[in-house]
Amino acid sequence: MGTGDHAEVSDDVPHRGAPEADAMQYPLSGQAAVVTGGNSGVGRSATEMLLRAGADVTMICRSRERGERALAEIRDAEMRDAGIASGGAGAEATGAGGGKPGRTSDTAPQPEVTLEIADMSRQADVRAAAESIGARLPAIDILVNNAGISSARRTLSADAFELTFATNHIGHFLLTHLLLERLEAGRGRIVNVSSRGHRGGDLRRASLDDIARGRAWKGPLQAYADSKLANILFTFESVRRWGGLGITANAVHPGVLATDIWNKTPRIARLLIRPFTWFMDRPEVGGAAVMNLVAGPGGNGVSGSYFNVQREEKPSAQASDRILAHELWERSLEWTRG
Ligand SMILES: NC(=O)c1ccc[n+]([C@@H]2O[C@H](COP(=O)([O-])OP(=O)(O)OC[C@H]3O[C@@H](n4cnc5c(N)ncnc54)[C@H](OP(=O)(O)O)[C@@H]3O)[C@@H](O)[C@H]2O)c1
Repeated sequence: MGTGDHAEVSDDVPHRGAPEADAMQYPLSGQAAVVTGGNSGVGRSATEMLLRAGADVTMICRSRERGERALAEIRDAEMRDAGIASGGAGAEATGAGGGKPGRTSDTAPQPEVTLEIADMSRQADVRAAAESIGARLPAIDILVNNAGISSARRTLSADAFELTFATNHIGHFLLTHLLLERLEAGRGRIVNVSSRGHRGGDLRRASLDDIARGRAWKGPLQAYADSKLANILFTFESVRRWGGLGITANAVHPGVLATDIWNKTPRIARLLIRPFTWFMDRPEVGGAAVMNLVAGPGGNGVSGSYFNVQREEKPSAQASDRILAHELWERSLEWTRG
């Protein structure tokens, strides 16, 4: 399923206006959110829902072209909601730190969506994006670590890590650390998008170094599962280490969703999966699962939990292994030492 399948921001969103109505309808008004992989699938849906709830959103995307296209579409939809004929909002979408999407004449400012370009598997990119975000935002209220891949082959990243692990775990570990002060200032809620596939993960089958460097490669499914297990270990350890800072963190399996992720699997797997995409949920189910952890009942102080879509659940035994979580954290610090 392509990005064209994303539902547009619905036309029944009320216009911003009366302050009491704003507080109810825009519960995240004035909050700053950062979403990795915001141009597609779960990240795109979460971005749209955060904006509708009033938050300003920074999307981190690896492709300028795909990021700008999503930015233009989202801004167009925002302006339609605000009752403004855009006259080609896409023309404004000039990339990182682009201008405001528009304002209604007599109401509160529209939430702002901004694009940062970074390949999450490249530490230099992550550092540059974090610096740019840090310079712009004094506080971050919401961080959605969502971008993810399943590399079909054993491939090494620019920093010589296995690509799936580098993207799904190491890049997000680094980004979160670099944004820590801003998250502390915003009493940030971190949502790490994992997968129920983490249950197949095994970070004890070899040394963490061998797994991270791709020397213990056992195929794309194992690499993906290992990286999604790492997402949950990181979540739980960050609560132990950062809970005192007022930061919360939860991990979520967003559902089995018809998103672009399946188009990026090897051709044979794509052909096998294609009939099943009919039975998959829409990306919005994942967006709503993220929202549940930042604005819904799950967001009310819940921290250190794993959610299967909207329901709290016990993750795998390894995901709850404190020694493994500690080891992974220490190794990840070494892997990301600048
Ligand atoms: N779909 C499911 O059924 C499912 C199930 C469980 C968990 N998940 C998780 O949900 C998350 C979102 O996936 P999705 O299903 O929404 O798939 P998707 O539509 O393919 O979205 C993935 C997003 O991550 C971005 N991305 C990939 N590699 C990146 C990199 N190196 N740097 C920056 N951005 C990168 C993609 O950018 P491009 O558009 O440029 O590729 C895209 O925006 C992933 O963490 C995935 O593991 C999905």
